[in-house]
Amino acid sequence: MAYKNIHSNFAAGITTITINRPKKLNALNKDTIQELHDAIDVAENDKNTKVVIITGSGEKAFVAGADISEFADFSVKEGGKLAALGQSILFDFIENLSKPVIGAVNGFALGGGLELAMACHFRVASTNAKMGLPETSLGVIPGYGGTQRLPQLIGKGRAMEMIMTAGMIDANQALNYGLINHVVAQEELLPFAEKIAGKIMRNSSVAISKAIKAINANFKDGKDGYNTEIKQFGKCFGTEDFVEGTTAFLEKRKANFPGK
Ligand code: COA
Repeated sequence: MAYKNIHSNFAAGITTITINRPKKLNALNKDTIQELHDAIDVAENDKNTKVVIITGSGEKAFVAGADISEFADFSVKEGGKLAALGQSILFDFIENLSKPVIGAVNGFALGGGLELAMACHFRVASTNAKMGLPETSLGVIPGYGGTQRLPQLIGKGRAMEMIMTAGMIDANQALNYGLINHVVAQEELLPFAEKIAGKIMRNSSVAISKAIKAINANFKDGKDGYNTEIKQFGKCFGTEDFVEGTTAFLEKRKANFPGK
């Protein structure tokens, strides 16, 4: 299949999907989200694919977030729809895939980018990686599962701090938090992820798919949380802070939030 915003490559049991919008730091626009869904669906149904690796192109970014220019003028209803659609076709889709998905975080993983990495079954990162959920600095909240998966992975207090401060952590801190499993040099990232994939491939893919289901079941209570997130995310689109936050970003200036 030909894609515009991603590459999908199969070799030795592994499908590697690379988000490829380096000029926009691989930001996730609507088309990219759909293409990611399509490529992951192909991998899920391909009997030769045993493991999926998701990474970003270039040396700077995994994914620098959802594409802010696409939703800056959305209404409350459109905001809610954006989160619901994205969660269903990409983020929940990855989490519930029957095949292991490894996030190879090669640089900035911010907002929707960190949410994408967190939807993967586990993550490895390069030393230059930086991770954060900066949404509150834009007058919005994470809408692709971030308010649920970040506390699951690093604990509630750390997640509260990261979301409230909108700050970034580096790869070593992410390792220390348990957000990622390993840190390696950038040029080693894909070979390292492939090495782990190789170990996974020695085991029963049927058993692994059942293990994924069982492990995910532990977090089912989060379901209501995701709905709350969708509603609250949508509501942000009716606030003056959101208009100011996104406009300021697009105008490349600091936001001055009215607090409404
Ligand atoms: N949505 C849309 N465009 C984005 C983007 C996003 N999330 N992140 C980066 N870009 C674009 C920039 O607008 C810029 O485009 P331009 O060259 O056409 O002006 C290009 O990618 C390069 O980014 P730039 O900001 O110039 O790079 P930088 O090295 O100065 O800063 C970041 C890197 C990651 C710190 C900065 O791009 C950033 O803060 N991005 C937004 C992160 C964010 O808030 N994500 C959450 C969204 S919900």
